[in-house]
Amino acid sequence: MKGIVLAGGTGTRLHPITRVVSKQLLPVYDKPMIYYPISVLMLAGVRDILIITTPQDRGQFVGLLGDGAQWGISLSYAVQPSPDGLAQAFLIGAEHIAGDSAALVLGDNIFFSHGLGGQLAAATTAIETDGGCTLFGYRVSDPERYGVAVLGHDGTLLDIEEKPAQPPSNIAITGLYFYDDQVTGFAESLQPSPRGELEITDLNRCYLKNGQARLVDLGRGAAWLDTGTQDSLLDAGQFVQVLQRRQGITIACLEEIAMLHDFITPERALELGEAMGKSGYGEYVRQAAAEYLAGNGRSA
Ligand code: G1P
Repeated sequence: MKGIVLAGGTGTRLHPITRVVSKQLLPVYDKPMIYYPISVLMLAGVRDILIITTPQDRGQFVGLLGDGAQWGISLSYAVQPSPDGLAQAFLIGAEHIAGDSAALVLGDNIFFSHGLGGQLAAATTAIETDGGCTLFGYRVSDPERYGVAVLGHDGTLLDIEEKPAQPPSNIAITGLYFYDDQVTGFAESLQPSPRGELEITDLNRCYLKNGQARLVDLGRGAAWLDTGTQDSLLDAGQFVQVLQRRQGITIACLEEIAMLHDFITPERALELGEAMGKSGYGEYVRQAAAEYLAGNGRSA
């Protein structure tokens, strides 16, 4: 399965902060925002990832993330010249996907839950064995801001409405999508919506029409955080800070995830941590690698 992180957009709701810096490079507590969605793909076992940015921000993403070899993954880059919709990612990324299945995660979506790794691994397996698409639902108090699930009495997904004035449920469709090899063809068939975008909801409807869309509930204990406004960005940073300081763990530590999934050796993780100087993040990488090498490693 191939991965795509969509990190385009103009971030106008965060101006002036995002006038010269991409929103997805802003810090969420101790690491750049884009670390979080990359960690989600790595947890799903996806190692071949395309990062889509605006043309002007591309260089900074390459400077930060490189070719991914340091984490035992492959990162490549493409640009989205104007924000013409999330589903456009599959047209821009058609060559990268090359007829495989694909997982898309939005560059400003932050996911955290105890069982997330298991849910993601199950989603990857479901696509590989049964095809179709897997979407992730999350209960929110303000569903009108999102794609919203229309659910049957037994909880099956019947339809999705994009930013409905009268939400049919409280279940938002989050910015993480797993698709089988039909995705590029479906994306090619889409027409721009009234707001001029190729809508991800319309792409999901192609699967729904064929009875091939599954909805996985992220559950009550999970966090799905938005970073679109100054308040939600600060909330996300504080959430990460509280959890990390209380538990002594680091969320979305790419070196640790790579090590625990055997993408890199613990020796390599230690070297990466040593190269990071005095930051708290670097200190954590060194500590996680040292613990692993001492035989009392953590679990993924
Ligand atoms: C987009 C999608 C929407 C989804 C949301 C998740 O919204 O259109 O269906 O629920 O991402 O973040 P937008 O980024 O256009 O507000």
